[in-house]
Amino acid sequence: MNNFDSLVVVGAQWGDEGKGKVIDYLAAKADVVARFQGGDNAGHTVVYGANIFKLHHIPSGILYPGCLSLLGNGMVVNPLVLLNELIELEKRSISTENLKISDKAHLIMTYHQVYDRVNEELLGDHKIGTTGRGIGPAYADKALRRGLRAIDLTDINVFRERLAQILPLQNRLLKSAYQHKGYGLDQLVEMYRPALEKLGPMVVDTSRLLADSFSEGKKVLFEGAQGALLDIDHGTYPFVTSSSTVAAAAGSGSGLGPQYTCQVLGVMKAYTTRVGEGPFPSEDNGEAGELLRVQGAEFGTTTGRPRRCGWFDAVIARYAARINGLTGLAITKLDVLSGLETLNVAVTYECDNNSTREFPANLIELEKCKPIYEVFPGWHEDLSRISTMQDLPEAARHYLEALEEAIGVPIELISVGPDRTQTIVRPGSFLAGWYGD
Ligand code: IMP
Repeated sequence: MNNFDSLVVVGAQWGDEGKGKVIDYLAAKADVVARFQGGDNAGHTVVYGANIFKLHHIPSGILYPGCLSLLGNGMVVNPLVLLNELIELEKRSISTENLKISDKAHLIMTYHQVYDRVNEELLGDHKIGTTGRGIGPAYADKALRRGLRAIDLTDINVFRERLAQILPLQNRLLKSAYQHKGYGLDQLVEMYRPALEKLGPMVVDTSRLLADSFSEGKKVLFEGAQGALLDIDHGTYPFVTSSSTVAAAAGSGSGLGPQYTCQVLGVMKAYTTRVGEGPFPSEDNGEAGELLRVQGAEFGTTTGRPRRCGWFDAVIARYAARINGLTGLAITKLDVLSGLETLNVAVTYECDNNSTREFPANLIELEKCKPIYEVFPGWHEDLSRISTMQDLPEAARHYLEALEEAIGVPIELISVGPDRTQTIVRPGSFLAGWYGD
């Protein structure tokens, strides 16, 4: 393989960076798009002309006929939700025959959502603010070695047998600790029967498919979900998701070695947002934050929750660049900043009278950190129709150069609106290699 046969695209903030749009744009040149972690907690909005697609499990590649879409072994898949996603796409005449599910992906079962909801209730003020999709409990069952896997969807008798082994334990937990009446075996088998019928034939060894694709010289795009600060190891634990969201997980979550994942594009918004609880040093609860929320339509795709908004945080961005090994940046939603007189960028934090460039692991320390801002002039021009770097207002170019310098990674792509056409690729970018230019 050469350097441009594979590209990993990851979120480099707290999720919702606009990965869906960037991945959809790059997927035009991909033969395969593979997800490697997370589940239907992800919500990608892809806008194509008058069409708006909201995808949860399914990679954006599905919108390109001929592109293979894979759900990797590192994912947790909710069969009932995935079935609905497929039906919705098919209703709009999008073919789903190129979707394949790893036989080793774990299943999110209906009881995982019960655990998720009650866990959050019991945590009260200390809740994580999860999407309520059952992600954490499904990964916990995987680690506890009592999960069901996609391979179990291929034969209803095997599915019944596996459930029969697991259900007594789940029911005991549900009844004793979660005040739930539990589930009958027949009830669950019937609940999942339509999903088995539709999804069973899509279950394959996706690691083998990927290895074969590379041997045939095909181009593979690895689609990350959530973002660096939500990573189970490197994020703002416990206010994180339950999977590895960083680029290294693209290999383990899809059954490949690290040599297949050379170029890593980190997607960052031109400002910062977060949904759910947890620290957010550059959050702005004033007018600027409100303007970003309204102009940027900052409401969650999966839950509809208003997102918390704030300034670009270069401390986080540098940390995300390191833990992902980012080789390039995609800056999204630059157009949303139009109209702000000045723009703040957090370049360091002040913690206990000390200035630091590093992102602390200790949340108590982080809560005390104050961002130290550098202030840049804003611009008023509408950027949404600009298609080249040189046509951007000088202040916008200056802002981007400052981000690049603070992070130490080149900006390869800029998004100035939700549509595929509202995308600027930097001249000489390594993405030109992806495009075969
Ligand atoms: P969970 O993944 O549903 O367990 O939620 C854990 C944390 O990750 C919560 O703060 C969620 O808001 C956040 N989260 C999960 N998925 C996404 C996403 O796709 N975008 C942004 N935040 C997410």
